[in-house]
Amino acid sequence: MLENKKEQEKAWVITGPTSGIGYRTALELASHGTVVLVGRDQAKLAEVKREIETGGGKAHTVVADMSDIVSVRRAADEIANLGLTLGGVLNNAGIMPTTPAKSKQGWDSAFATNHLGPLAFAEALVPVLPDGANVVFIASAVEDPERKIAVQAGFRGSRFISAEAAARGEYSPGGSTHAGADAYATSKQGALATVFSLAREIPRLHFRAVEPGVNPGSNLARDMAAPIRVLSKALAPLMVLMPYYSTPKRAAKVIATVLTDPSTATGVYYDENGKPMQASKQVSDPAYADRYLKESRELLATVPEGK
Ligand SMILES: NC(=O)c1ccc[n+]([C@@H]2O[C@H](COP(=O)([O-])OP(=O)(O)OC[C@H]3O[C@@H](n4cnc5c(N)ncnc54)[C@H](OP(=O)(O)O)[C@@H]3O)[C@@H](O)[C@H]2O)c1
Repeated sequence: MLENKKEQEKAWVITGPTSGIGYRTALELASHGTVVLVGRDQAKLAEVKREIETGGGKAHTVVADMSDIVSVRRAADEIANLGLTLGGVLNNAGIMPTTPAKSKQGWDSAFATNHLGPLAFAEALVPVLPDGANVVFIASAVEDPERKIAVQAGFRGSRFISAEAAARGEYSPGGSTHAGADAYATSKQGALATVFSLAREIPRLHFRAVEPGVNPGSNLARDMAAPIRVLSKALAPLMVLMPYYSTPKRAAKVIATVLTDPSTATGVYYDENGKPMQASKQVSDPAYADRYLKESRELLATVPEGK
């Protein structure tokens, strides 16, 4: 089952392995070594672990609420103490809520779950990652106001003013009329800002982002009204000809390839076919990406370490 002996010694950390794209990616990663499953629901994690072990693979489970910085840091400590040789970390967990809510730290829940938590997780694991390890973030092209299909779906790109504003749930004017769209697009841009900025800052590791394509087969739209959810699942098979269409199974293959790729590629953003793609003009500007990261770190610094 394992691809080669060298990989067998490596462990791959994945957040959000209990549904959709992450679930399929976790199964895919089992053929590359030990999988560290990080999620908020122990019972669901145990189910995925059992499935991996039944297939002859190895897995550990670690409970973490990615929206809660204290929980995220505790999970990173737990992973460090497992004593595994980490090949890479995949920040996959994400939400697209349609009703604003606050995280444990009082921040917008989408911004906390999709950006601040994954950033804190990556930063807490950096010291235990060996040289050449990969840190991958699942981004979303809806951050780009020029992405046609996203605009047609009602997105207006990232509406980032500052990290503090995003944490308060405030966005620049001209945003979407769809509930939650600005919060989602703004928070997902954080993944790209993080990848581009950290790739410059930490050359011994490789930071990569993946746009997994449009996956109506996942549960990301779980907060939408039931009729929309049911319709989108029902229409999923008819969407095959739609640009950027993908399935969690197909996305998983691309993501696992990017995560386990031993090349030195860093600061690269991959599309649903695993080909390098362009991010928005905004986040492609190093000064902007660095500011996004710096302000996010300032917010994280308000949560005392070791608590
Ligand atoms: N679907 C798409 O078309 C699409 C497009 C572009 C990007 N993406 C991105 O792809 C990633 C995976 O999404 P998906 O489409 O596979 O959605 P999904 O089926 O809803 O899966 C989301 C995963 O994230 C976990 N999660 C959510 N909040 C969490 C929290 N606070 N703490 C820990 N885990 C949490 C969920 O855990 P539970 O099982 O416990 O709920 C689940 O395992 C996300 O980052 C999303 O933004 C998706």
